[in-house]
Amino acid sequence: MQNATDKQPKKTLSQDVDFLPINGTDYVEFYVSNAKQAAYFYQMAFGFQPVAYAGLETGLKDRVSYVVQQNKIRFVLTTSLEPDTDIGRHVDKHGDGVKVIALWVDDARKSFEETTKRGAEPYMKPREEKDSYGKVVRSGIHTYGDTVHIFVEREEYNGPFLPGFKKWETVNKSEPVGLKYVDHMVGNVNWGEMNKWAKFYAEVMGFQQLISFDDKDISTEYSALMSKVMTNGNEKIKFPINEPAKGKKKSQIEEFIDFYKDSGVQHIALETDDIVSTVTELQNRGIEFLRVPHAYYEELLDRVGNIDEQVNTLEELGILVDRDEDGYLLQIFSKPVEPRPTLFFEIIQRKGARSFGKGNFKALFEAIEREQESRGTL
Ligand code: FE2
Repeated sequence: MQNATDKQPKKTLSQDVDFLPINGTDYVEFYVSNAKQAAYFYQMAFGFQPVAYAGLETGLKDRVSYVVQQNKIRFVLTTSLEPDTDIGRHVDKHGDGVKVIALWVDDARKSFEETTKRGAEPYMKPREEKDSYGKVVRSGIHTYGDTVHIFVEREEYNGPFLPGFKKWETVNKSEPVGLKYVDHMVGNVNWGEMNKWAKFYAEVMGFQQLISFDDKDISTEYSALMSKVMTNGNEKIKFPINEPAKGKKKSQIEEFIDFYKDSGVQHIALETDDIVSTVTELQNRGIEFLRVPHAYYEELLDRVGNIDEQVNTLEELGILVDRDEDGYLLQIFSKPVEPRPTLFFEIIQRKGARSFGKGNFKALFEAIEREQESRGTL
């Protein structure tokens, strides 16, 4: 196994023909047990704004979806209204979790064709959806676990979200907290499957490997993981893929797999231009974050050099810092936001850095192990 290869060649895809051009993340859809309350949580705690709704009032009989948005980040919270549905079974098996990572493309038919001819398993054949606001074309393929990618082509659409959704009119007391866009979304995959899924993103979706980490980079006394970060041609989409590695005790990736019961989305990293104010606001609203010990901040400036922020402010909030050859980044990780120790959020501010905070992995893993200890799952 190779050691960390942070210095992989930078983007070379632009020279080739990108067979799957992607403009960005279109939406993330969660299958949850109570979409109405989940939407309220993302509004009040994370500052998302109510955007669109589909359910009984719009003619759906079997499900409801609430759509919330903050800048370019759009979350869809979906719950089944019937027993024994795909949505209900997903929630029963995995707990609340991410079903769809939707990607905004210019041509959903071509995206489907190019990926399925390279071996993707079809999830949704290209489908044209229309209402009075215009037309959207969507198609979809399977990825790891029960997770899917949906390609969304929406050039000719002016509605609140997708055809069939109406504007969601509700009491809204929530102010945005400065979250801008999805920086990356991490998949935890089953034992021994990292290379399989890295290969899937390379061969089926035309992504390149940005960085890889092995257990020598990411291990503490007790736990370890391996990771490969895959990115598309314009680097707007970044999918780190983690698999557990053997340690003395159970790693956080193994704990995720045990509770999610399969491969799935582990965390969503949301970018802000001002992490201090975003995290201050999130903490005021009750979001819980992982904490690292005081010693981390004593050594911080020796490790990362000069930064614009005050170290004592960062320590009060628990914000972490790391530097690479392009600059530095600030990041912080929430505790799981579901009853199971599965999905959590990262808040990230990049000041040049293109990497993922490798210098923080050890301190973070030790923080996560303290949490695992309290859950009896270490
Ligand atoms: Fe991350």
